[in-house]
Amino acid sequence: MKEASVGILLTALRRASSHRSLYGATHHLTESADIAVARAADQVVGLARRAVVILIDDTLYLDGRLLAATSVSCNGIIRTLQDHGVESIAFEAPVDAGDCGKLAALICGRGDGPSPGSTVTLNADERIQEEVAPSSSELVRSAYAGSLQALRVIGDSLRRGTGIDLAQSTSAVKTLLGQLVSQPGAAFLLTTMKSHHEYTFYHSVNTAIHSLALGRLAGLDKEDQLLLGMGALLHDIGKIGVSAEILQKPGPLSESEWVEIKRHPQIGGEAILAASNQGQEAAAIVAFEHHLRFDGSGYPARSRRHLSKPMHFFSRLVAVTDTYDALTTRRSYRRAETPVRALSVLLTSAGTAHDPDFVHAFIRMLGIYPPGTLLELANGNIAMVTHPSDHPQAPPFAMVVADSVGSLLADPELIVLDKTDIVDQVSPARIGVDPTVLLDWISEHGLLAS
Ligand SMILES: [Fe+2]
Repeated sequence: MKEASVGILLTALRRASSHRSLYGATHHLTESADIAVARAADQVVGLARRAVVILIDDTLYLDGRLLAATSVSCNGIIRTLQDHGVESIAFEAPVDAGDCGKLAALICGRGDGPSPGSTVTLNADERIQEEVAPSSSELVRSAYAGSLQALRVIGDSLRRGTGIDLAQSTSAVKTLLGQLVSQPGAAFLLTTMKSHHEYTFYHSVNTAIHSLALGRLAGLDKEDQLLLGMGALLHDIGKIGVSAEILQKPGPLSESEWVEIKRHPQIGGEAILAASNQGQEAAAIVAFEHHLRFDGSGYPARSRRHLSKPMHFFSRLVAVTDTYDALTTRRSYRRAETPVRALSVLLTSAGTAHDPDFVHAFIRMLGIYPPGTLLELANGNIAMVTHPSDHPQAPPFAMVVADSVGSLLADPELIVLDKTDIVDQVSPARIGVDPTVLLDWISEHGLLAS
């Protein structure tokens, strides 16, 4: 599938760029990484002579065709390319590894890019001049990408110790909220996006989307929705202060490593508080309290004086949405839970780890088959739940994405899910469907703006 090839190409390019920064241009690992970029580019070109990847406002096109999923999953490298003035890349097969190395050098600030007339040409394609009106699905993806970028900028500031600017996150949350209000189905579907490379940032955006939706359901006014969204978006930003080896450790953590991890609420809370204007303190409280449990346990440990003080309303809400997204994400040390199983875990913890009111409201909001749920139907086909119906009691919409032998369908079929047809849940690891690939199709059919 061409879209997957472009994802592999961009991932290889990111690796070649970071190898060049780490080891220099002549190191054998850098040279191997350049070759991997060239071979990935050859795959993208395929049987054609030339392929053109175009980047417009965080959105990726291959030979004029929108690549919805890769636009979000590879947002980091797309931004980096755009920051270095890259609007289109034309590859001509067989692609030369040296030319790919020059492209990698450009995006790590160590060169001017491939020479004109080489097998990799930048910004030469006339199609970038076309005006492309954003579709509704592009708008929601752009809101998601904008939040990721705000987190990167804030994370960089925190890493450099220069203090953070909350204006970026306020603006990102406003845009996210606008899209959630106008097309909640699309926003929910995007929360199924996960990233191994930027786990914390994607997790934070997903948590912000669910928190904003739950906050609206709880009747918060606009001002409080924005504060809640900011707290949810930044709740884990303190992880910037924890070493990457500990965060990505595949096995169980040692006691000292746990101590290190448990510092992130305080690091994040203090950084947000230092940057807050009067009235924005709630966002810092969310970061500080999101690992506290409803029963008063959790971390950071509370002093005896504070034990009787309840957690902030926002913190109790974000604790639920944070846990849901964490459970449904595959980590190096455990598999991803299915959405249904994650809801069941939340239900078990209602009243102990989590505020039962928010757990029940969250389940009502997503339905018992949340977006992204994969189900085996009685005829053997596999369907993915795409979005809740307009009415809480009505079954959700789903798309039949694979046939009874597990082959992905070229033209997925939208259905209203008949619960009597459901045979079993399917693990996301079994069927390789990226839910965002379906976003444009259902958006085009006007089915997301519910
Ligand atoms: Fe956390």
